[in-house]
Amino acid sequence: MTPKNPKHMVLTTFMLPAGYHKDSWRMDGSRSDELANLEFVYDLTKMAEDAKLDAIFFGDIVHANTVMRGDIKMNGFYEPMTVLSALAARTKNIGLIGTVSTSFSEPYNLARQMAGLDHMSGGRAGWNIVTSSDGFQNYGIKTAPDPATRYRRATEFVDVVQQLWDSWEDDAVINDKESGWYVDTEKIHPINHTGEFFQVQGPINMPRSPQGRPVLVQAGSSGPGMELGSSVADGIYTAQPLKEPSVEFYAKFKAMAAAKGRNPQDIKVIPGILPILGDTQAEADELAEHLANHLHLDNGRVQVGADLKMDLSELDFNDKIPASWFSDDPALGSRYQIYRRKSVDQGMTLRELIVDLARSTGHQWMAGTASAVADRMIDWFDSKACDGFNLNAPFNPGGFKLICDKLVPELQERGYFRTEYEGTTLRDNFGLSRPASIRERV
Ligand SMILES: Cc1cc2nc3c(=O)[nH]c(=O)nc-3n(C[C@H](O)[C@H](O)[C@H](O)COP(=O)(O)O)c2cc1C
Repeated sequence: MTPKNPKHMVLTTFMLPAGYHKDSWRMDGSRSDELANLEFVYDLTKMAEDAKLDAIFFGDIVHANTVMRGDIKMNGFYEPMTVLSALAARTKNIGLIGTVSTSFSEPYNLARQMAGLDHMSGGRAGWNIVTSSDGFQNYGIKTAPDPATRYRRATEFVDVVQQLWDSWEDDAVINDKESGWYVDTEKIHPINHTGEFFQVQGPINMPRSPQGRPVLVQAGSSGPGMELGSSVADGIYTAQPLKEPSVEFYAKFKAMAAAKGRNPQDIKVIPGILPILGDTQAEADELAEHLANHLHLDNGRVQVGADLKMDLSELDFNDKIPASWFSDDPALGSRYQIYRRKSVDQGMTLRELIVDLARSTGHQWMAGTASAVADRMIDWFDSKACDGFNLNAPFNPGGFKLICDKLVPELQERGYFRTEYEGTTLRDNFGLSRPASIRERV
């Protein structure tokens, strides 16, 4: 294995086969009839691996609310653990990051699933830790617990999972045919955890996985989200539409990690970007317009209303949401404030807001040539606004093909991205070493 070049970005892709730009599945050539099958998502994954991306990333929601509002973008057609297991069998190098909420599972289940994926993929598993704000009614819970409670549960959940992953010492498997003992039981330890939310005896029932512990990714930019991420995560997903706030976020985040005794370079800050690419600026603008023309505006109104928890049914598309309708309540999350800035500070009308959110969902988007988009990405990277990007394909498969065929080669030519994989694990791709067992810290 060759170490990752520190000048290289981390590049993952948010795998939404219906296309990141809302309603782009309505475009010709979208393969929307294949959603939920393996072949389509495999073809996208192969493109990502051929482009040498660090990882594919699957989000997850555990409800059909968005589908029922006419939005299939963040659909749950691809349940992360099952689709990643299938894709593990057909890929070699690309990292496999899946979202699993800490609100609906038990640490013992998650620890086994992720460690199993890590074993079977040869060390390519990653877990995106989310606390979820929706879907509780599908698990017998009437209303979502407040964010502080959800994050307390998440913090304990992750702690238990880490203890379970490390409950087997690296050399616990002795495979001793003569003695008839496959494991050295002295090297496998119960965890005896008793906490606010979980009681787990342990140990886990499988050996420590190839990466030691699967990569941990966290997507939350609020105080408790950053607290958890800076304590445990190897990668941070974040919505950062503007460079300066991203520079601030990056610096704050790295400082928080350093204050916890971690090497700031070991935590990769990865904002999303949605590139709409053309051979000329005019061509890219035309494509952006073409994408916008596929939007179902009435559904968009409902979606924005749901995101902002506002009744927008009477508002004209050409009017702005009155500033007084917005709230300061931090419980509404960091993404709400991004929408608020666009509406109140930038003065977007409801129609403009619908189009903007359909493109980016709060992330940065850019229509331009591959060279211009690469300029922007390199500027962010060199300015310490990020360590790389989560690439949001505006439409599939065509929009992702443009990213892989035009944007990634541009970054490679300028020396900002690998042309060959350095090793075989997701940690190799991120430039992270295999972690020592947390048992050794005690
Ligand atoms: C790139 C990215 C991907 C996310 N994926 C999911 C997801 O798949 N499921 C989910 O429930 N939340 C997801 N989230 C939402 C976060 O978990 C979190 O709820 C959100 O960022 C707000 O958290 P905060 O209030 O701590 O900022 C994602 C966020 C980002 C930035």
